[in-house]
Amino acid sequence: MLLSAASSPPRQRLEHLMKLLVTGASGLLGLNLALEARNKHTVIGVDRQRLVDTPFELVNVDLLDPGAVDSVLDAARPDWLIHCAALADLEACEADPSLARRLNADLPGDLAAGCSKRGIRLVHLSTDSVFDGTKDGVYTESDLPNPPGVYSATKLQGEHNVLSANPDAIIARVNFFGWSLNGKRSLSEYFFNNLSAGRQCNGFTDIWFCPMFVGDLAETLVRMLEKNLSGLYHAVGSEALTKYDFGVRLARQFGYDERLVLPISVEESGLKARRSHNLRLSVHKLSTNLGQVIPGLSTGMQKFYTQYTQGYPQKMRSYQQI
Ligand SMILES: NC(=O)c1ccc[n+]([C@@H]2O[C@H](COP(=O)([O-])OP(=O)(O)OC[C@H]3O[C@@H](n4cnc5c(N)ncnc54)[C@H](OP(=O)(O)O)[C@@H]3O)[C@@H](O)[C@H]2O)c1
Repeated sequence: MLLSAASSPPRQRLEHLMKLLVTGASGLLGLNLALEARNKHTVIGVDRQRLVDTPFELVNVDLLDPGAVDSVLDAARPDWLIHCAALADLEACEADPSLARRLNADLPGDLAAGCSKRGIRLVHLSTDSVFDGTKDGVYTESDLPNPPGVYSATKLQGEHNVLSANPDAIIARVNFFGWSLNGKRSLSEYFFNNLSAGRQCNGFTDIWFCPMFVGDLAETLVRMLEKNLSGLYHAVGSEALTKYDFGVRLARQFGYDERLVLPISVEESGLKARRSHNLRLSVHKLSTNLGQVIPGLSTGMQKFYTQYTQGYPQKMRSYQQI
């Protein structure tokens, strides 16, 4: 395992409040979270040599390697582990259920046990898609999940494994959008890449969800751990809309032709993994326990656009190992 040097000066780090270890640091959430959290805390990212020149330290390790969990926790000795690594691609999970189980179910349990043993607090990332979408209304944390596919089933098992090994953990069920390392990871980048090139793209009219801007999610997760919360939370945006409407909102924000977003049903998309039609989640518990309003899509989309005008996508790309 290789611990690479941080570029931030040591004096600055002494003023930081806590040491956070972020897995999946090359991922959509992990990278944005690490960049946001380092403004206040010491951040160490877990990476498989995808990243370079990041303004936070990196531990290079494959978390599925034998002994990796213990060695990474011992090397970093964080106050908090924020576990963002996963097999988060639904189609990839259907294609390789065994890898999905190892990454999304077994690994979180192993990390949770390792954290318990060492007194490290844990934030574990889960998904809105643990629900089958048949409820006529908004899902709360007390609703019973019924995962429709391999991804969601393994993520739900991951929740159970984490809570049985580490009952004080925070489990955050999320859905988010933003700029990623390779510019292709998020739904927002799918719409942006097509619309900016003048290409037509599909928007599902029959999937409702509550996307949160990844920068807002990063801030929210940091506040949750600063407040010492524990237990299950829905940490999504406060506004529900269809994926088609999300594409249209993005087109309007960027001044692209919204007619390029074609309204289709997910059932005619050719995707293999079954997807829930209703992923509307209540953020009441989160809002109450954090004592703040949870951001909605309008401000999130504006921030996503502002990052674009400020060259944030290029900055993300500059961290990519060639
Ligand atoms: N994106 C969404 O809207 C969404 C929605 C609901 C829930 N979530 C959950 O949110 C979390 C973050 O998702 P994301 O979209 O940021 O995921 P992502 O962009 O696909 O990133 C996954 C990360 O996991 C890392 N990883 C995979 N296998 C690994 C291994 N064996 N060892 C070490 N690292 C490994 C990847 O590293 P490499 O780059 O080396 O592959 C990557 O950094 C996940 O728990 C996901 O299930 C995401």
